[in-house]
Amino acid sequence: MIMSENPQPNSLSAEQALRFYLDAGVDETIGTEPVDRYAVSLASAKAPKAGNGANPALPQAKSRPTRQESAVRHPPETVAASSVAGQSAVASAGAATNLDELRAAVEAFDGCSLKSTAKSTVFADGNPDGRLMVIGEAPGGDEDRQGLPFVGVSGKLLDLMLESIGFTRDTAYITNVIPWRPPGNRKPTPEEVALCVPFLERHVALVQPEVILMVGGLSAKTLLNRTEGITRLRGRWEAVATPDLDTPIPAIATFHPAYLLRSPQQKRLVWRDLLAVKEKLDSAPAS
Ligand code: URA
Repeated sequence: MIMSENPQPNSLSAEQALRFYLDAGVDETIGTEPVDRYAVSLASAKAPKAGNGANPALPQAKSRPTRQESAVRHPPETVAASSVAGQSAVASAGAATNLDELRAAVEAFDGCSLKSTAKSTVFADGNPDGRLMVIGEAPGGDEDRQGLPFVGVSGKLLDLMLESIGFTRDTAYITNVIPWRPPGNRKPTPEEVALCVPFLERHVALVQPEVILMVGGLSAKTLLNRTEGITRLRGRWEAVATPDLDTPIPAIATFHPAYLLRSPQQKRLVWRDLLAVKEKLDSAPAS
């Protein structure tokens, strides 16, 4: 749960108020003033109509997107795709010619509010020259503290999963759809995801792995631009096609290790997905 900094129940000492919030499950402070989100969204829905009769608060019908515009794909109808921040994400991701530049571009990007509540920008770990790229969802608390993806409990399980098919962090490359921890580990909004997609797509294009393992529903839905859940998407070979890739990259989705920790009976299916990755790579000579 998240609470802005100031509100204190009347007549409580600071310590009592803090205890009250902790007991209520608050684990983040994200601002100095409370914001009534319902009032904000109501106001933007009622925004006056522009001269052409279009309501600027609603997504506008667009002419055919250019190659760069189409890089913000998920979901294309959101405000993020046509916002200044969205266009800036497309431009700065597209300008990166190598991974160092891309990391710097992500670190410099201020268009996604998740950055302001996170301690670190979690870019990637592992070997960018490896054959396998693993793409998870978003950093959690441990990742935020250490600035590296998948270093908490579910990361330990991911390491074991990768080891089972012969990979380590020296041979696989690991990143996430979202580089900043959402406060309280909440689900990122579609707008937040859309703002990160240009960086993710550029990341894939710069690494150009032979195979992508999409870990968790958010990863699979975002990379494949699909709406089905992970139970439907996992275990099938798909292709990740981004605007900068000449050839789509074979990709397979599997359950997130955090889900496996809660539902260990699903490990059987994950083992199948991992074997499919191994077979795919074994059947093609390393390039
Ligand atoms: N879960 C993810 O999807 N990514 C991380 O880096 C950590 C947990």
